[in-house]
Amino acid sequence: MNRLSTEKISSYAAAVPSAARDEPMTKHTTLKIGGPARLFVEAKTADELVAAVKAAVSLHIPHVVIGGGTNLLVSDEGFEGVVILASERGVSAKGTLVAASAGTFTSLVARAAADAGLAGFEWGATIPGTIAGAVYGNAGCYGGETKDILESVDVYDVTERKRVTLRNQACGFGYRDSRFKHEPFVLLSVTLRLRPGDKKEIAKRISELMAKRNASQPLGAASAGCMFKNFRYVDESALEILRRRTDAIPEDMLKRKSIGAGWLVDRLGLKGASIGKAKVSDVHGNFVVNQGGARAQDIVALASMVKMKVRDELGIMLEDEVQLIGF
Ligand code: EPU
Repeated sequence: MNRLSTEKISSYAAAVPSAARDEPMTKHTTLKIGGPARLFVEAKTADELVAAVKAAVSLHIPHVVIGGGTNLLVSDEGFEGVVILASERGVSAKGTLVAASAGTFTSLVARAAADAGLAGFEWGATIPGTIAGAVYGNAGCYGGETKDILESVDVYDVTERKRVTLRNQACGFGYRDSRFKHEPFVLLSVTLRLRPGDKKEIAKRISELMAKRNASQPLGAASAGCMFKNFRYVDESALEILRRRTDAIPEDMLKRKSIGAGWLVDRLGLKGASIGKAKVSDVHGNFVVNQGGARAQDIVALASMVKMKVRDELGIMLEDEVQLIGF
């Protein structure tokens, strides 16, 4: 990546005085990996967020907006541009709608909904990262998906240079996918539509899901959540090699036409495999954990090795779920 010129760095710092230089991305990713962001801004309000993006665009400086840093792998060389952390927080409930600023932790939004007696987002209490991140990646677990409860989002449209409200149908949601992964929009705030429920029941469901997640995923370890998307297929022929190589494929996976990436990795006995300080979790095969001081290169090498083995031995090509920055 071309180094940013000193002139560009100074011009950006003049336009956005709060911009820091050479900010280590280890501080802003749950994997605790990544070289420096040449420029770094913590945007505490939507106005600051829009201003930080506008300045980058007008100076032709590459930019990336991050939230909780939970689904990110930043290269060891860092990012030659500006990383903008969207950190405005705030959540309020009105009727069956819950509105939250982009940087509000998803778990806090879910708790606020629970406190307001609103059901349907209990699973959100177990999701790491921010609510804008959840929309960006159409996060989901335990049968819930962001797309099923999202009413609308307020965004800054970078191409049209204006703020707009997009309703659910305009967000282009797919499995762990949204329009925001492919087009230049900046998420500013999010509105969810839930349904009235019993507060006690909602709290109970949250505890159950937390316990489930604790038992099946390495929550205490530094990771970026699931590394790969589960394998979705249309035609059974996609499973030809897998059927020859493994014991019975779980019925629920066949029913959903979605084979768990963690399950596949586990079939190959790859849990615990490591390169440098990066290791495939002993708890869940779709998590790669940083055992302390791992480099992005180690994670990439380990993930590539896993992908290659799954492809060669089980005939399935896994796709990255984690977002890459600076590669
Ligand atoms: N399994 C194994 N070995 C493993 C991991 C899983 O045999 O190492 C088996 C489990 O025993 C279970 C099945 O595979 O029978 C499915 O596992 P799990 O319930 O953990 O769900 P998953 O399909 O592996 C998905 C999401 C998770 C989400 C969970 C819970 C993806 C890529 N992963 O995982 O999302 O938390 O369901 O609903 O869609 C994420 O996106 O970062 C993420 C963690």
